Amino acid sequence: MHSKIYIYMMIYLIGPMGSGKTTIGKILSSRLKYQFFDTDEEIKKKIGMSISSIFDKKGESGFRIIESQMLEELSIKPRSVISTGGGIVLMKENRVIMKNGTCIYLKIDFERQRKRLANSDDRPLISKSSGGLIRKTNAAREPYFIDLANIVIDTSSLNENEVTQQILNSLKS
Ligand code: S3P
Repeated sequence: MHSKIYIYMMIYLIGPMGSGKTTIGKILSSRLKYQFFDTDEEIKKKIGMSISSIFDKKGESGFRIIESQMLEELSIKPRSVISTGGGIVLMKENRVIMKNGTCIYLKIDFERQRKRLANSDDRPLISKSSGGLIRKTNAAREPYFIDLANIVIDTSSLNENEVTQQILNSLKS
């Protein structure tokens, strides 16, 4: 009983770029009356730069260090839904932190993901990149998403409210 309550205090939304983690995180947190945080948004506020500028100035490795520090800070805020960047699972220390909470993996089909990313201007890893790079990036991270996930939702044919409802149903069961 206690372990279940403990697990429910921190909810991490994980999944590839463009899978809807931020949108769903906001809706989910308001339905649960939890706080909401988005790692990228918190990083932008703290550093005072866009994600693309951070990549330009500090490289991906610099961004990953900042991202890990941010996750650590957010992971002690109880009753929170935390939407994460797609690459957060690459760092072992991040996976260790997220294992202590409930991880919800939002899956998305490639075509939908590609359409969403086409309209994005602050995703430095895939800007101007071919579909091949997106697929390769997805494939490299998928095993981590699967390994961490307590709940997997295939969002491909669902709207935002349906995704949120499925998450709430899974959390209750
Ligand atoms: C990244 C995903 C982005 C952002 C950064 C790097 C990645 O977040 O953290 O551009 O490596 O997949 P989203 O998953 O919200 O796009």
